[in-house]
Amino acid sequence: MARSNKTVRDYIRTIPDFPHEGIMFRDVTTLFADPRGFRIAIDQLLHPYAGTDIDRIVGLEARGFILGGAIAHQLSVGFVPIRKKGKLPGKTLSQDYTLEYGEATMEIHDDAIQPGEKVLVVDDLLATGGTAEAGIKLLEKLGAEIVGCAFVIDLPDLGGRAKLEAMGVDIHALCA
Ligand code: PRP
Ligand code: ADE
Repeated sequence: MARSNKTVRDYIRTIPDFPHEGIMFRDVTTLFADPRGFRIAIDQLLHPYAGTDIDRIVGLEARGFILGGAIAHQLSVGFVPIRKKGKLPGKTLSQDYTLEYGEATMEIHDDAIQPGEKVLVVDDLLATGGTAEAGIKLLEKLGAEIVGCAFVIDLPDLGGRAKLEAMGVDIHALCA
């Protein structure tokens, strides 16, 4: 059987003017739906971290849950969600943020991470970096050590990479 030469980028489609006019929305549902695409994305996301000391995978709502869950399973570590406001049932810490097309608040359970735990943050896409920055601030408040942030897509023109690097965060991304 012929082997596919498709890269992760080839499985992602761009939908113009979603959720607002002028936004070129990178839709990863087509990547997730393809068995080879999803597998190579997970393999490539975790590759730099295989064999390193990681206590938890932290996924950013919502697509970070799909990727982070698969990575946590593969690395045999636990998974912690950072969710949009009002979704977590226990006592939470909150952090407001802005992103490419709006404003929101992220939350984490205040007992989800113990001080000193090594965490890998996972999401599908880095744009302005507002979402990831909010997640990192929450994790830092809990005393986590951020091993890195892994994304399928990095849109560096929107400033997220520079923002996270200025915070001293190591970024791993598969495509632009
Ligand atoms: C998207 C994406 C990232 C975030 C990136 O999520 O999945 O989490 O935007 O943008 P930023 O770098 O400018 O913060 P979205 O806010 O659309 O939420 P959803 O995954 O819950 O739909
Ligand atoms: N989040 C922020 N900007 C985005 C984009 N262009 N595509 C998908 N998700 C996003």
